[in-house]
Amino acid sequence: MSIRVSHTDVGSHFAFGSNWKSYSRLIGSSQIEAAERGVLKSISSAELKGKSFLDIGCGSGLHSLAAARLGAASIVATDIDSDCVVTTRAVLADHADVAGVCPCEVREISVFDLDPAAHGHFDIVYSWGVLHHTGHMWQALTKAAAMVRPHGLLAIALYQRTRMDGFWKLEKRWCAHTTPRRQKMASDIFLALVKVYRAARGMPKFQSFLESYFQNRGMDYLHDMHDWLGGYPYETASADDVDQRLRALGFSPERVFATLKPRIGLFNSGCDEYVYRRRA
Ligand SMILES: C[S@@+](CC[C@H](N)C(=O)[O-])C[C@H]1O[C@@H](n2cnc3c(N)ncnc32)[C@H](O)[C@@H]1O
Repeated sequence: MSIRVSHTDVGSHFAFGSNWKSYSRLIGSSQIEAAERGVLKSISSAELKGKSFLDIGCGSGLHSLAAARLGAASIVATDIDSDCVVTTRAVLADHADVAGVCPCEVREISVFDLDPAAHGHFDIVYSWGVLHHTGHMWQALTKAAAMVRPHGLLAIALYQRTRMDGFWKLEKRWCAHTTPRRQKMASDIFLALVKVYRAARGMPKFQSFLESYFQNRGMDYLHDMHDWLGGYPYETASADDVDQRLRALGFSPERVFATLKPRIGLFNSGCDEYVYRRRA
């Protein structure tokens, strides 16, 4: 199967791949188990077992690894960023013992170049926190949806719409293209504000928050923070918009984890999760 690789828009992107590469050194059994729980939040093990799984925007590859461990029949992990592709291959190879016998392919390709006529349909298309970083979220959603076979599942996570979307868009555009020294300064300021905010609200100690953060899909706060501050392109979506778009594309809701009350978005947008089934 030959796949055309498109880098047409990668130059305008934040360097997601180097962040995932650095994060991947932290991956151990706790992160893998938490990633499995994260995948199972969207897709049950019965839905996953023996199914083909396409991971669009695989980042570190941790969730492809989790899907392999949970019994998927085959995995295709894709990302536009070559560092993500290299990292995902390494993560899958390093944990080959736990990935089991499931065939996993990792490909460097943009969601915009995925084509069911060339690459086939998949039982499950998973794209967590990706489509809002493509620069054309709704077109990317249409592309991802087209890869789902009839009766298959589309599991995506998208940034929630918040009152501070405009501010964050400007901040991210600046951060994604500025020097590492300035990015570091932005991170330091952000981190200090988060700590003050947490202390003022009597939230649990920052250190214990950092230590337990991996329970959130196996992630690491400092890497997530870097991704949040620089993650450009950036778009957000309301649950109603997503629902309308997916219904028009021939999908019905299976389960949705969305915050319906509009948030301010002071320190992040948070991701809403959507699992929709393709009608026949
Ligand atoms: C925030 S990360 C999410 C990674 C992973 N899905 C996870 O949940 O950990 C977003 C990922 O989307 C990828 N990405 C951005 N634009 C893309 C595109 N047009 N096609 C495929 N992947 C893309 C980035 O390279 C990055 O790895």
